[in-house]
Amino acid sequence: MIELKHIYYTIKDGDKEKTILEDINCIFDDDCVTAITGQNGSGKSTLTKLIMGIINPTSGKIYFNNIDITDKSVDERAKMGLTYAFQQPITFRGITIKELIDIASNEDNSIPKACEYLSKVGICAKDYINREFDKTLSGGEQKRIELALTLAKCGKCIIFDEPEAGIDLWSFERLNNIFEKGICYIVVSHQTRLLERADKILVLDKGKIKNYGISAEVIKHLSSYQCKRVSED
Ligand SMILES: Nc1ncnc2c1ncn2[C@@H]1O[C@H](COP(=O)(O)OP(=O)(O)OP(=O)(O)O)[C@@H](O)[C@H]1O
Ligand SMILES: [Mg+2]
Repeated sequence: MIELKHIYYTIKDGDKEKTILEDINCIFDDDCVTAITGQNGSGKSTLTKLIMGIINPTSGKIYFNNIDITDKSVDERAKMGLTYAFQQPITFRGITIKELIDIASNEDNSIPKACEYLSKVGICAKDYINREFDKTLSGGEQKRIELALTLAKCGKCIIFDEPEAGIDLWSFERLNNIFEKGICYIVVSHQTRLLERADKILVLDKGKIKNYGISAEVIKHLSSYQCKRVSED
C-alpha cells in the first residue's frame, strides 16, 4: 500500500516557482490496480517518479506499507519492493535480454523461465532472449521488454508509466492479463481498455486530484473532463 500525504512538487521557473503537483492525498491499495489518467502535462509521470524516489517532493510524506519512505533513495525503495517501468524505456548496449532478466529477478533463470516473462507481454521469446536490449529493437519491442523486466523484479508495488504506449492492440490485450493478486499496481494510462480494467482511477488535472474512486464511477465522468488522449479503441 502506498499513501501520499499533502504532496507538493514545485520547480524553479526563472525567478518564479511553478507548482507541478499540489496537495496530493491518496492511498493506493494492495490487490488493486489503480490507473492514473489526465491530460498531457497534468503531472502523472511526476507523481509516479515521486513514489519511486526518482525525484523528491517539495513537501509532504510518502508511506509504503505504513513506513515513511519520503527520504529513502530509489535503491532503498527497490529493495523494499517498489518497481518502476519508465514511459520511455532506457536501453543498454552489450547486454542480452536474458542477462537483464537474470539481473531483474536476481537469479540465474532457465531459458524457459526467462522466456515466460517475455511471453507474458506478448513477445515470441526465443527470437529475443539472446538479443541485446539496444536501439535496434523497435519502440514497441523496447517497451514490452521493459515491462517484462519490471515483472521479473516481482515487486510488491509495481508502477507502469503508460505501458500501452507504442504497443499494438494484440499485445495490449495480453497486457491486461499481467496483473496478479496481492500486488499494488499503479498504472498511468490514457487507454480506455486499461481504465476499464483498473479497480480505481485517479484523475489529475493541472497538478491536482480531480477525481479518485471506483473505476466504473470515475469513467462516467471522464469525457466531461476533456481528457483528450483517452481513446475509444
Ligand atoms: N523539471 C522540470 N522542469 C520544468 N517543468 C517540469 C519539470 N518536471 C515536470 N515539468 C512540467 O510538469 C508538468 C507535468 O509533467 P509530467 O511529465 O508529470 O506530465 P504527464 O501528466 O506525465 O504528461 P504526459 O501525458 O504527456 O506524459 C509538465 O508541464 C512538465 O513540463
Ligand atoms: Mg507522462
